[in-house]
Amino acid sequence: MSTWANLGLQDSASPLMEQLIFFHDHALLILVMITVLVGYLMFMLFFNSYVNRFLLHGQLIEMIWTILPAIILLFIAMPSLRLLYLLDEINEPSITLKSIGHQWYWSYEYSDFNSIEFDSYMIPTNELSTDGFRLLDVDNRIVLPMNSQIRILVTAADVIHSWTVPALGVKVDGTPGRLNQTNFFINRPGLFYGQCSEICGANHSFMPIVIESVPVNYFIKWISNSVNS
Ligand code: CUA
Repeated sequence: MSTWANLGLQDSASPLMEQLIFFHDHALLILVMITVLVGYLMFMLFFNSYVNRFLLHGQLIEMIWTILPAIILLFIAMPSLRLLYLLDEINEPSITLKSIGHQWYWSYEYSDFNSIEFDSYMIPTNELSTDGFRLLDVDNRIVLPMNSQIRILVTAADVIHSWTVPALGVKVDGTPGRLNQTNFFINRPGLFYGQCSEICGANHSFMPIVIESVPVNYFIKWISNSVNS
């Protein structure tokens, strides 16, 4: 979960988010190097008086400063494409969670188990317990097993929403009339918070997502209790 003055990415809770952070750092490093170099050159140009009155063309330098940036771009494009396809790869998911965006709450269905479905509303500030997170906690949390491949199906009932959980590296639009798919693997237990990331109306800011990541045997207990009740 993101806390005060955290300008970077959240700690990852899935292998894909780990890769996303590596790529972010890689791209940022290249960006900093280019900014420093260009900044230095521009700064130095202001403080010298070198003039070449007979300079009309420079084939060699033009070749170099055209091809060099193209090669640098390749070093960003190749890992970017690798990640793009990696994020879309589905590896035999053990369970499927369907999440449906509504104005303004999420509803969830565990379609592998008979008739487990519930709505998940934000807890208003005046009803929040002292250990709750304001604007981020919900009345019914998603419970998911850790160390398992999870498929998530996202759609919406009214307008476009976006199911976004930063620590898992998941951000999928829920669009009425469409069913989007992605997958993730949670590699540690804990609470993972997310929010809707598609401007969906007046209460867009108030439809958070909470995932409880638990060991598989706890998950089985939870799911069998839910089926019986
Ligand atoms: Cu749903 Cu913004």
